[in-house]
Amino acid sequence: MTATKGLEGIVATTSSVSSIIDGVLTYRGYNIDDLAENATFEEVVYLLWYGKLPNRSELDRLLKDLSENAAIPAEIIDQIKLYPKNVNSMAALRSAVSSLALYDEEANDMSKEANLRKAIKLQAQIPTIIATFARIREGKEPIAPKAGVSIAENFLYMLTGKNPEKIAVEALDKALVLHADHELNASTFAARVTVATLSDIYSGVTSAIGALKGPLHGGANEAVMAMLEEIGTVDNVANYINEKLANKEKVMGFGHRVYKNGDPRAKHLQKMSQELGKITGNLNWYNMSIQIEEMVTGQKGLKPNVDFYSASVYTSLEIPRDLFTPIFAISRTSGWTAHILEQYDNNRLIRPRAEYTGPLHQVFVPIEKR
Ligand SMILES: CC(C)(COP(=O)(O)OP(=O)(O)OC[C@H]1O[C@@H](n2cnc3c(N)ncnc32)[C@H](O)[C@@H]1OP(=O)(O)O)[C@@H](O)C(=O)NCCC(=O)NCCS
Repeated sequence: MTATKGLEGIVATTSSVSSIIDGVLTYRGYNIDDLAENATFEEVVYLLWYGKLPNRSELDRLLKDLSENAAIPAEIIDQIKLYPKNVNSMAALRSAVSSLALYDEEANDMSKEANLRKAIKLQAQIPTIIATFARIREGKEPIAPKAGVSIAENFLYMLTGKNPEKIAVEALDKALVLHADHELNASTFAARVTVATLSDIYSGVTSAIGALKGPLHGGANEAVMAMLEEIGTVDNVANYINEKLANKEKVMGFGHRVYKNGDPRAKHLQKMSQELGKITGNLNWYNMSIQIEEMVTGQKGLKPNVDFYSASVYTSLEIPRDLFTPIFAISRTSGWTAHILEQYDNNRLIRPRAEYTGPLHQVFVPIEKR
């Protein structure tokens, strides 16, 4: 038995949720470029769950279901009030999502209908949890979700208490479309491994949030912004990046396990970053990003991934840096739950092997003699 480090190139399951073929990303066969330009996030959620684009009445039904399920239990709000104020936002989200199961009578109902209802609740409530956490830690009262608006609009409204600008809603909605699913990425794999034991959907999404938190996965978008803030201005880019590359340190937001010729999502986020920079009158983050890209691609051949330009996009939307990865989780919940439903439909325990590299034939020595 020979291990493949990081399971690179290993095909671990079949799936019809999304594909990456020759560098092209599709959700259920629809090119991400088409979806980013034309679909709303809720249409994508429907597509991922049901395998087809919704007609008007199917979409309206989903919007209504999401709206009706967006409020979180009062016990979760009370619990969030007890979290330390400076806690990691992904740790807070992971804890609150795990707790949602305690207040859902259907948590352990494994019927398809109940699992779909729980997918709706998770998709609807995760934005509310994040906005609630963000307000409570600032000493503000949480804001109840608004009926009849999109997830993107509701999230910005619950975060700020103000009706967001149309352009901000459109930008966030597009970012949600772009992050919704990505084949067998680390967090989706974690979700599938968890539910393949026939554990519940809340356990699967909690595992996924834990995996997304890391800086090699979803945590990279926050790390990119931390880097941009540390660099400060375009003039400092060259020295900073040269030093990083000379020290063989990673530049966050670059490289990808699957894409070697560029991440197809990055160009959409780059365009949005520039447009939002023009609107806010602050192109500093965008201009720095462009120069970093030129250097890292020029010197290392590495292309920006989805996390690189999303950092400046969210900053232009005045979203706090440590909410970037939780926003990724809002979007990816659609993909996680689609994969979980697919796993349940054709389940087999996921249990690979390990190549043992430790010592063999050890002789047991009683504790007094060690
Ligand atoms: C995404 C990522 C985890 C993929 O990892 P991977 O497939 O295991 O690739 P590796 O880490 O083995 O990288 C292969 C080589 O490219 C280099 N490399 C990869 N990403 C790099 C980066 N962002 N900056 C500098 N060098 C990088 C590695 O140092 C390694 O070089 P070496 O062969 O000389 O040792 C990796 O590119 C990375 O850490 N990127 C930064 C974090 C990030 O943006 N994550 C979000 C992904 S969407």
